[in-house]
Amino acid sequence: MDCDTGVDDALALIYLCSQPHVELVAVTSTPGNVDADQVARNNLALLELCGRADVPVAVGALAPLRVPLVTTPETHGPQGVGYAELPPARRAPERRDAVDLWIDAARSRPGELTALLTAPLTNFARALRAEPRLPELLKGVVIMGGSFFYQGNTTPTAEWNMHVDPHAAAEVFAALAGLPETRLPIVCALETTERIEMHPEHLAELAAAAGCAVPELVLPGDAEGLRSRASNRLVRHVSDMLRFYFEFHRLYDQGYVAHVHDYFAASVAAGTARFATRSASVHVETEAARLVGTTVADYRGLWGEPPNARIVSGNRPAEAFAEFVSSVGALARRLG
Ligand code: BDR
Ligand code: CA
Repeated sequence: MDCDTGVDDALALIYLCSQPHVELVAVTSTPGNVDADQVARNNLALLELCGRADVPVAVGALAPLRVPLVTTPETHGPQGVGYAELPPARRAPERRDAVDLWIDAARSRPGELTALLTAPLTNFARALRAEPRLPELLKGVVIMGGSFFYQGNTTPTAEWNMHVDPHAAAEVFAALAGLPETRLPIVCALETTERIEMHPEHLAELAAAAGCAVPELVLPGDAEGLRSRASNRLVRHVSDMLRFYFEFHRLYDQGYVAHVHDYFAASVAAGTARFATRSASVHVETEAARLVGTTVADYRGLWGEPPNARIVSGNRPAEAFAEFVSSVGALARRLG
């Protein structure tokens, strides 16, 4: 997994830790929602919280390929995890660059590993430069990013991960063109990830599934910045992350909800989500000033180019949340 943790990246990572059949090989840290060192601190802390301090965490690029880094503390909080105050991990990131870790892992287990990318594509683009055979060495690639014929969340037409490093995104999609259909990356874009809309009721269900006796109520009428008193540690941290994310979405007129994009991508990578896809040739704009980071999908082959993506065209929000609640609830209960 490569992420820019981020509240929804954190939920994705926690979800993967809750899945006994998922072997989490490495978590790499890309600058985006917060800077790369903070992403790594979050990843280390979350893995320790979930009892997975054995999973290597690495840092790679410190900035996008060609443009300065812009972070988004207003979306995810100053440290990327909303109001949560995660105990710092007792270990440091690997000395290896994230790219070396990716390449070594893919070469040592050809055809076995799935790349889950929930961040700007900076490190993945660097990995493809260093090892152009990466798409053949991997079993699959799942990307959270883009928005197709749907409004952006960063500019009117661009989604965050594509906008932070448009050059990396353009490089990655160019490199994946022409792969056999079954090996094309699965792209989870805003038009379907914004359907994965978490509500306070889902959090209450999670707390109940974790065995919390007192209902976990995070309410729109609460004073901003309240902290959870849940008896379960994992639930407490998830609740403090989500309260901030609910408040952010409300600030942008989307209601007291949270779009948990990256969790959906994680469930696709884990093989636990049901979804449909359509193949397309994806272009990422890097030049036109007002359109930088905009993604365009040619579903009809009008450009005469081979497809480079399978874009998710249908997903099932109710199932996604039932899965999250039962799987993460069980993990929280195990951890106590
Ligand atoms: C993406 O942007 C980030 O802020 C989220 O973590 C997600 O990966 C959604 O546009
Ligand atoms: Ca993310």
